[in-house]
Amino acid sequence: MSKKPFILGIETSCDETAASILTENDNGYPIILSNIISSQIDVHKEFGGVVPELAARSHIEKIDWIVKKAIEDSGVEIKEIDAVASTAGPGLVVCLSVGLSFGKAFAASINKPFIAVNHLEGHALSPKLNSKINYPYLLLLISGGHSQYLSVKNLGEYKRLGTTIDDAIGEAYDKTAKLLGIEFPGGPQIEILAEKGDPHRYNLPKPIFNKGGCNLSFAGLKTAILKVSKEIKTEQEKFDLAASFQKTVIEILYKKTKIAFTEFENTVKPKENKFVVAGGVAANKKIRDMLINLCKDKSYEPIFPPIELCGDNAAMIAVVGLEKFKLKQFNNLDYPAKPRWPLDEKAKFLKGAGVKL
Ligand code: KG4
Ligand code: ZN
Repeated sequence: MSKKPFILGIETSCDETAASILTENDNGYPIILSNIISSQIDVHKEFGGVVPELAARSHIEKIDWIVKKAIEDSGVEIKEIDAVASTAGPGLVVCLSVGLSFGKAFAASINKPFIAVNHLEGHALSPKLNSKINYPYLLLLISGGHSQYLSVKNLGEYKRLGTTIDDAIGEAYDKTAKLLGIEFPGGPQIEILAEKGDPHRYNLPKPIFNKGGCNLSFAGLKTAILKVSKEIKTEQEKFDLAASFQKTVIEILYKKTKIAFTEFENTVKPKENKFVVAGGVAANKKIRDMLINLCKDKSYEPIFPPIELCGDNAAMIAVVGLEKFKLKQFNNLDYPAKPRWPLDEKAKFLKGAGVKL
């Protein structure tokens, strides 16, 4: 039996400092040996969002002991690590640079290969941490910065079917929360408040619902919430608005996912229909339940990462590292931090005023 690879993954693209050691079993499926995440919620709470300079400073303070702890907890010795994989983008350059430089220096110091990882590819492959999935599959990536439908044909082979033309879903959740006076990051709180509310109380808009294929838009919804939130007087009205917002998001995702299924089938012609949902918002139970039911109706297998691996973490970076390591896809130590790094480099940029769908 050949020696199993040990991969160190490092993630610092936004407000989580994370490190993980990953290996694989005899069948080639990943096994997490350690997964350390330190969130900066307390650092950014009073500002209502992530402040890049503060985030970078916090990464610098923590990266050393987070990596040390990940190695210690894994039981693996430094000399046994076979490659170091760091997130190189997309994200905040000042934040990315911390994990990227640390990873490069670490790899150089142990004389092992360095692998630059796309954060979105980490989310895309994160369900591999608990499910046995093979390519191809349809991916819905829903996080604080991205909302996209992608055909995942192979490692590094993506075709974007649809994307948000303005805000990401997580961003819409966080902005709605802010308007309702809920502390950052409000997404998970909105889900809790929505449980106590009447989802039919407010009729909110569904931008580009009847056009634009499976592209998405949430900016108009946010503007409508801004208007309604000004008139809210009672706690119950707050719950009702949270519930109405979530119901609207779910209706949008229901319709757009059906379109994405058809586009996936037409473009990829898969033998099996598999639907992976990843990113921070994939932790939302109501959204999960709706998508699971839709999959039942349309004969798709729904696949989600474990809830604790939906948000940013380093195990998902290490899993990309593991796949690239096996293919010997290594990077040079001058690899840059990339603030923008789409999975489908050929897809048209679809953001901003005047976008034609
Ligand atoms: O993937 P992630 O950790 O970071 C990015 O790469 O953006 O996603 C974070 C986003 C935040 O906007 C957060 O509010 C949202 O995911 N989120 C949720 C839930 N949990 C996290 N949104 C709705 N419901 C949730 N339960
Ligand atoms: Zn993320």
